[in-house]
Amino acid sequence: MNLMRMTVIGTGYLGATHAACMAELGHDVLGVDVDEKKIEALKNSTVPFYEPGLPEVLERNIAAGRLAFTTSYDEAAAFANVHFLGVGTPQQRGSYAADLKYVYAVIQDLVPKLKGKHVIFGKSTVPVGTAAELQQMANELAPEGTEVEIAWNPEFLREGFAVKDTITPDRIVLGTRDENTTAEEVAREVYATPLASGTPFVITDLQTAELVKVSANAFLATKISFINAVSEVCELVGADVVKLADAIGYDDRIGRKFLGAGLGFGGGCLPKDIRAFMARAGELGADQALTFLREVDAINMRRRDRMVTLAREACGGNLLGHNVTVLGAAFKPNSDDVRDSPALSIAGSLSLAGAQVTVYDPQGMENARKVFPTLNYANSTDDALRGADVVVLATEWQEFRELDPVHAASLVRVKKVLDGRNVLPVDAWKEAGWDIKALGRSL
Ligand code: UGA
Repeated sequence: MNLMRMTVIGTGYLGATHAACMAELGHDVLGVDVDEKKIEALKNSTVPFYEPGLPEVLERNIAAGRLAFTTSYDEAAAFANVHFLGVGTPQQRGSYAADLKYVYAVIQDLVPKLKGKHVIFGKSTVPVGTAAELQQMANELAPEGTEVEIAWNPEFLREGFAVKDTITPDRIVLGTRDENTTAEEVAREVYATPLASGTPFVITDLQTAELVKVSANAFLATKISFINAVSEVCELVGADVVKLADAIGYDDRIGRKFLGAGLGFGGGCLPKDIRAFMARAGELGADQALTFLREVDAINMRRRDRMVTLAREACGGNLLGHNVTVLGAAFKPNSDDVRDSPALSIAGSLSLAGAQVTVYDPQGMENARKVFPTLNYANSTDDALRGADVVVLATEWQEFRELDPVHAASLVRVKKVLDGRNVLPVDAWKEAGWDIKALGRSL
């Protein structure tokens, strides 16, 4: 196998994982970021976020001399002819559209420093048309005699499974401006290991590759909101959304995955990606095509309101002065990410409605505190449960799923629990004397 040299620009979730995993595949990798603190941490083998397995990969590859980090674009330009762009594309303030300022900044800072032939693979999630625009920019910025090809290679990794998803992806998608480009040749070398083990390799034009990514996330969001919409109906008629999901999930055209009814989706990707997709469709004159995503978003948000209502009911109609324990702050288990987290959002709403809210999350405390400094933060699950008038399970960490209902009963003031993720063993909780309620089920 031909080992390659490459830079990975942007060392957030996506970039840090990509850099470490490319080194793990045997390549020589330089991670680049303008954030000096982040680079300093990474140089010291510290991952600035929680991702199981990533610290080990980082440390091993730094020690082996295959992975280094820098804040210098001069170094990056001289280090390799292959560059991965993995900076963030957050939602713009005051709009649904994606903010591309970090993406543009990379092209502006890097391209004028390049010499010879280079390929830049975009990995960030961007509105369709961005890659072509970046190619134009690169053509204008490239020094005399330098040739830069922009290709798009979207990333499908999930937080919590980032290492596995990067080293053994379920598909590799590459968008190129023409057929048989240098980018395709380079990608085949970069991904030689996963390709050799039969990973599907889908080569497309640039715009298809960009759309693949947002379509995948829009589909996942739609699937979650579909089951949560059905959940609303189940609540009205006393049906059970979990059994319903099991039953429809056996049809392999439907599949059980992402039919987990509950508090819905959050995180740094699904919410902003469906909004940016709608915004882009609007710009293209196809706003009607994606108006259903507005509904997907609305269904998702209504689940949070519903949970606040259930908590209010559990407190006899008024949250004022009641102790509510929220188990979970991260947007999903095995992550410390609280961006657009349903758990933290309901904790905040409950607090604003007058409840005394205590939150515990195995990893998300530090980030949660930054967003909502006014909530009470407990040091452990037990600590959080003490004196509760109602307990809300909002993020399905294993620790919460396995909570002993008898022990938990000895800590709270009132044995009322609301399962926002449909993961608690209902019978065991009932046997321990709990009044248990869940989204989409009458228990
Ligand atoms: C998502 C996609 O799954 C990845 O493929 C994609 O690469 C990534 O976004 C991205 O664009 O970077 P991630 O945000 O890590 O990954 O999280 P998911 O595992 O997709 O979960 C998203 C949210 O949906 C979580 O809040 C989770 O609790 C919720 N969810 C998931 C449900 O409410 N029900 C389900 O059945 C499944």
